[in-house]
Parts: sequence; C-alpha cells; structure tokens
Amino acid sequence: MCGIIAYNGQKDAIPYLIDGIRNLEYRGYDSFGCAVDTDDGIIVKKDIGRIDDVVEKYKINAMSAKRAIFHTRWATHGSVTKDNAHPMVDCAGKVAVVHNGIIENWEELKSELGTHKFVSDTDTEVLAHLVEERMKTGDSLDSAVRYTFGRIKGSSSFVVLNKGNDEMVAVKKGSPLVLGLAKSGTFVSSDVPSFIKHTNKVIYLNDGDMVRISKNKYEITNLIDKNIRHKINTVNLAVKDLGKGEHEHFMLKEIMEQQELLKNLESTDLSATQKAAALIKKARTVYLVGAGTSFHVARLGARLMRDNGMNAVPVQGQDLPSYKKILSKKDVFVIISQSGETADIINSLSVMNGNKKIGIINVEGSKLAYESDILINVGAGPERAVASTKAFTLSAVHITLLALFAAGKKKEALRDLNLMNINMYNLLVPSVMEAIDRAAQRIKGLESIFFLGRDYDYILALEGALKLKEIAYIHAEAIDAATFKHGPLALVTNKTYAVVIVSEDTKKDIMNNLQEFKARKGKLVGIAESNAESFDLFIRMQSGGVFTFVMPTILLQLLAYKTSRQKNIDPDYPRSLAKSVTVL
Ligand code: F6R
Repeated sequence: MCGIIAYNGQKDAIPYLIDGIRNLEYRGYDSFGCAVDTDDGIIVKKDIGRIDDVVEKYKINAMSAKRAIFHTRWATHGSVTKDNAHPMVDCAGKVAVVHNGIIENWEELKSELGTHKFVSDTDTEVLAHLVEERMKTGDSLDSAVRYTFGRIKGSSSFVVLNKGNDEMVAVKKGSPLVLGLAKSGTFVSSDVPSFIKHTNKVIYLNDGDMVRISKNKYEITNLIDKNIRHKINTVNLAVKDLGKGEHEHFMLKEIMEQQELLKNLESTDLSATQKAAALIKKARTVYLVGAGTSFHVARLGARLMRDNGMNAVPVQGQDLPSYKKILSKKDVFVIISQSGETADIINSLSVMNGNKKIGIINVEGSKLAYESDILINVGAGPERAVASTKAFTLSAVHITLLALFAAGKKKEALRDLNLMNINMYNLLVPSVMEAIDRAAQRIKGLESIFFLGRDYDYILALEGALKLKEIAYIHAEAIDAATFKHGPLALVTNKTYAVVIVSEDTKKDIMNNLQEFKARKGKLVGIAESNAESFDLFIRMQSGGVFTFVMPTILLQLLAYKTSRQKNIDPDYPRSLAKSVTVL
C-alpha cells in the first residue's frame, strides 16, 4: 500500500501532484507528505490526517516547483505519527525519499549506518541514509540508488529527490510503479489515474527498473535484466470516470455503476475467456486463488466448476504452499485480484511456477496481470472505495462465464447474462431502496449479526458479512444455514439478527433452518424473490438464471453502505484499511 507520485518537467509540479495524490488516497490515508525542490533547497511538509487537511494546514498549494515527490501512507513499520510520515530525509536534508513496500533487512542496514541520525521508526528512512552515505563517497545520485537497490531485501519501490540535482530517480521492486509521459514532463506514480488528466501514454515498469527522470527526458535501465524492453501503452481511461459523479461517495458510485458495466459485458470481446476455457477443459485440477473479497469469487467459481464436473479447488494465497506436494504440471491456476498486487498472492507465485496461470484482474499493468499467461480483464474501471464492489461482481460474472464456457455452455451463459441484465432494471426500485434503508436502520445499533445462506447463497453471505464488517464496523459472521444447528444455534435469543439470502434454488431446504432460528425468537432480514412468514424485514431480489447471484450481491453492498452512512462512517475510507494489501 501507500501511494507515490512524482513529477519532473517544465510546468509547476505542485497543482499536478496535489490533484494526482488525491487519486491515490485509496492506497492509504494515515498521513500525507511531500518534498519540493525549491531554490532554497528541498522543503518537506508532512503530517498525519487526510490529504486535503494537510495541504490546507501547510499551504502546500501556495508552493511552486518544477520537481517534487508526494506520498500518502498506510502504516506498516512505525505508528501513525508526523515523524513516520513520508518523505524521509537524510542527515543533511539533501536527499528525500518516498517509498511503497517493506524493507525486510532495515534493522541490519540501520545498524550499519550507525553514525547517521534517524528520526522515525520506519524502514523507509534507511533508504535516504544509504543514498546519502554513497553520495558522500562520490557516487552520483543514480549509482547511489543502484547500490541501495542492491542492498535492500523485500518488495520496495521508491523515488529519490536530491537537492540541486536536475534528476530524480525511481526504482521498482515489487510494488507497482508506472511512468506517465506528458508533453511537459514525466510522472512516476503508483497508479495511472493519478496523472491521466495530463497524459494517457504510460510505461508499466518492471521489477528492477531504475528510471532517471530529468526535466526533458527519462531513461530506464533494468538492474536485473538488461534485455528488458519497454513499451509505451495508450491507456483508455476517461477523466470523468475518476470522480464521484452525482454520488456522495465513491462506494455508492461504484455500486450504481454495476448495471451499466454488466450491460456492456454483452458486447465485450470474450476471446480471452474462450482461450482460458480451453485450458480449463484440459486441466487435471483447477486451483482458484484469491484473497478477501476475491477469494469469495474463487469459491463461487470453484463451486460452479465442480457442479459442471470439473475438479476445482478454491485456495487463499497463503495456503497455496500446502498444496505443493500434490501439484501436477497439468494443473491450472486461476488468479483473481482486483488490484493485481496483493502480497499473499504474489508470494504464492513461486508455487505456480511451471503451471499455466489465468488472471482475472482489474488493474492493467499490475504484477499479477503481467504474470498471467492468459489475462481476463475484469473491466470494472478504477475502483476507488476501499471496499470492493463492482470489481467483485464483474470478477464473479467473468468466472461464471469461464466455468460455463469450459463446460460447453456458452450459449446458455450468454442467454442468462442477457436475462440478468433485463431483470436488473427491476432490482433497485424505490420500494427496495426503502426496504434496505429500514434494514440498515434496524441493524446499525447491533454489535454482532449473522449472515446465512446455503450453497451459492452461503458464498454471498460471506461477502455480505465482509462488507458490513469493513465499512460499518459490526461483527458479522457468515454461516452455512445447513450447519447452524451444529452449534451456533445456541447463540440465538430474541436479540439475535441474521440477514438471510434465499434464492429459489435453496428455498426449500433453508426454510427449515430458518424455522429453527425463529423458534429461538431470532430476527430475520430476508433477501429473496418473495416474502416469507419467517422474515421480519424483507428485501426483494430478482432472478437472473445462472447470474442470479449478482442480485443479492448488489443488495448486500447497499445494505453495508447504508448502515455505514447511518452510523456516520465514511465508507470510502474505513479505519485501519487500505485498498491494496501489499504486505504479508
Ligand atoms: C474487501 C476487499 C479486500 C480485497 C482483498 C484482495 O472489500 O476489498 O478483501 O478483496 O484485499 O484484494 P485484490 O482483489 O486486490 O487482490
């Protein structure tokens, strides 16, 4: 996590970078800071809190410079304090560094730099002092950075600004970095949306790339493999897609966008899915790997593949090593990740070595997209709210298409996609929105709640519970309704609430489970196509053939959003979280 953006060029860097860093705030919002190269030397401003507040407090928009580096932090090493905010500087205040990643051997390096004055508890600070140390012995900025790159262990990308030097130097190791090639100068950033207003020409950097950026040019050298070539890509991203539109929060905008995105899918080129399906068909076992919300997509995909006669196993990245001894070269991996940079998955890539990998990924140019043999681009567009909504739904729809194509059911899949899109128009009608409001009102004061479902609905219960925990801070536990009687039933009193998803396929079986819950006087919020006696509150869903799961998914997202708002929480920036989890 953490977001980096830097610019070196002919224009004033400050307005560009203030605007740019706001588009990276999803990567962390514990503190914000910048280092600005002025005639009076490098000026560093930083503090804890949200970007706009720090900008205002230190009048950063009144500064002016052609070169600067900006950073937004999600704390890993060192708590959330002003001293631990980036940039970090060397003893002389001549070298400033912003960093995204973790330096595993920082303690060892710090003790080596014994005479240097350290002021923070972060791992990042060793970077500034290592560069300073080398430059003291006569190294140029780029050779000092090259040396530093060779000394650090772990996944770390960083940008270094040096007083009186026309160049800044960026290095990518693990964490994402992308170059933006504008007419007026060069950007280097954690993500494309941060500079898309100025250019859509980008170079996705590879691990080991070191970039020297001066006012008029950039030069890339790969420190690991000299033969790596760099392609300039033209990114298709509209500036209007970056804002909140008419909505109060990014999360609401992203929930509401789903209808259009799903409709567009009907005219999307699905040749990558077709190719991937051919691989799946030949596989001995399909392992579907994901984390958090994306793991729920993996579960959904694996279940559907198994129901269609394929041998499919959902695995969380951190568990993959335990499968090592039973893997065969004939096994295929499906990697699901919105960001394409989740450390738990990246760390498990070595286990997948030698096997074919299909990526179901939303961020183009990300590490996992790059590692995939076949890439299915989820096409959700930039997702800015920390809680994943549209990327979950789009990934789940793509994995359903993949499973059904592999099962030889392409025609049925496309027919049901169309049916789901038609029925979607009836999903968010006023009476349903009011029902969600009522449910949010009822559950907002709870400390704990269950989410119940059977079969596929249980996977949606897991997703609904995760969303509620994440943005409404209510302990939510998803349980397969079939297993409720094996223990959890003991917890039910007249104060117990459960949200239950009842699709037509599970209706017959789950109703008995719900009777057991009701007999203990528990309260039920039912999400179903029709009301039932056992529901205390009812939210109507629609059907969509094999894509029916999309309907409760959207309702559960809205329930979490509305509950969060009723508790006066900002759902876009839930406490302690950041969007891309690049630590193990
Ligand atoms: C929850 C959420 C997280 C992510 C998880 C994996 O709303 O967003 O659980 O799903 O951190 O992230 P990706 O999909 O980027 O690999």
